[in-house]
Amino acid sequence: MAWGACGVAAAALLLLLLLLAGGGGGGVHCLQEVTASRTALQRRFHLRSRAESGATVLELRHHGYDGSGRAGGRSREEEVGGLFSSDAARVSSLQRRVGGGGGGGDRSWAEDGASKAQRRVPVTSGARFRTLNYVATVGLGGGEATVIVDTASELTWVQCAPCASCHDQQDPLFDPSSSPSYAVLPCNSSSCDALQVAAGTPGTCGDDQPACSYTLSYRDGSFSHGVLAHDKLSLAGEVIDGFVFGCGTSNQGPFGGTSGLMGLGRSQLSLISQTIDQFGGVFSYCLPLKESESSGSLVLGDDTSVYRNSTPIVYTTMVSDPLQGPFYFVNLTGITIGGQEVQSSGFTASSKVIIDSGTIITSLVPSVYNPVKAEFLSQFAEYPQAPGFSILDTCFNLTGFREVQIPSLKFVFEAGVEVEVDSSGVLYFVSSDASQVCLALASLKSEYETSIIGNYQQKNLRIIFDTLGSQIGFAQETCDYI
Ligand SMILES: *[C@@H]1O[C@H](CO)[C@@H](O)[C@H](O)[C@H]1NC(C)=O
Ligand SMILES: *[C@@H]1O[C@H](CO)[C@@H](O)[C@H](O)[C@H]1NC(C)=O
Ligand SMILES: *[C@@H]1O[C@H](CO)[C@@H](O)[C@H](O)[C@H]1NC(C)=O
Repeated sequence: MAWGACGVAAAALLLLLLLLAGGGGGGVHCLQEVTASRTALQRRFHLRSRAESGATVLELRHHGYDGSGRAGGRSREEEVGGLFSSDAARVSSLQRRVGGGGGGGDRSWAEDGASKAQRRVPVTSGARFRTLNYVATVGLGGGEATVIVDTASELTWVQCAPCASCHDQQDPLFDPSSSPSYAVLPCNSSSCDALQVAAGTPGTCGDDQPACSYTLSYRDGSFSHGVLAHDKLSLAGEVIDGFVFGCGTSNQGPFGGTSGLMGLGRSQLSLISQTIDQFGGVFSYCLPLKESESSGSLVLGDDTSVYRNSTPIVYTTMVSDPLQGPFYFVNLTGITIGGQEVQSSGFTASSKVIIDSGTIITSLVPSVYNPVKAEFLSQFAEYPQAPGFSILDTCFNLTGFREVQIPSLKFVFEAGVEVEVDSSGVLYFVSSDASQVCLALASLKSEYETSIIGNYQQKNLRIIFDTLGSQIGFAQETCDYI
């Protein structure tokens, strides 16, 4: 394997510079992880967009802290610990929505649907928004809204005036009375019916209140409540008339200065379904690193010429199961560590995994996680181990090592599609002095749960979601909004 040297630089709070060697013939990379200050992130909240070759490109940035204003004074370990317990909550809520796990069976939504009374789909996406790390700016009505981007959510919502309860946000509050194109949706609209699936609870209407009210409630007590409405959505000048969204007059949670959330899931009310005429049901993203200087892009539309990918796009089939929520599934058929194929019975039985933009750490069923961990440990044996941290149980003390050789991590999806994780996505630095550096993968509790590929392992990849063609594409890309 190759060895090399990296220069030393300085950064705001944390800088770790490691030498990385790709095991499978990969080159040598320098890795920097920089935690930027919140003020730097907030300055960059107003994100750019452009239209190019028939595609719409939105700048995407890491949202950083939860933005609740309470993060100050906490240590890095406390910060990361909070982030991981939120991540675990999101993973368990996604399990509930998929229908596996917990109960020990593989109950599908079809069974739930058989009896309407039982068809209670918990809405728990984004269990806590501080785990939903990527934001973009869109136009709504006459104004701008900077929203969290989530592939596991359906309904887009923004905070609306007059607010009964709203968190602080950076953009001016959306005011329906100043938008002539705004209208509420009535109870007998098909969009109101679709709330049952999109929000888990049906739309509600009072006798004297013909508007359809929605409630999204999240497991940590966060919620958004308001009326279902439509207005002009503007994406880099491309205007979508009659875009259906939630106008939230009562919202609570750590939404961190954003106006709300953009739902990129698969179902009827998602932005992707609603813009099918404009963008053909295709979107892609490149998730940037967390550091303040990094930006990435969310591309709507199927023109691949706007991507900056450095390897050819490879596609795997999207596993279509309309009954299992808004999620994007693919079959995971293998994992390689340092070029070594990991042997696991888990790659044949239930190999379906979710690609999620909002989960941080990839979580694998035990039959896959355990052999992956064993292989990593054997290749990383020269480094002293450290205690586990939160959901991460494979940790090392790398203090004093100026150069560290990190095995490459590759996912293999159906049709032999190999995706190498960016070198920054293999290890997680719990402590800034490198005394606790962990393999950035976690184990699920049970075999019946569904593995999730998290965003920490999606960085610097172009991931293309083709909902009509039912395929998901991958390519290496150094994320940037140019
Ligand atoms: C909904 O109700 C209104 C008033 O009751 C009626 O005019 C309209 O046609 C209905 N729309 C649908 C789609 O049923
Ligand atoms: C994915 O795996 C499942 C079994 O887990 C299988 O039924 C299916 O055919 C595979 N491929 C696709 C594209 O669904
Ligand atoms: C990590 O290793 C260094 C150097 O060997 C040692 O001084 C330090 O005490 C270790 N830290 C922890 C938390 O174990």
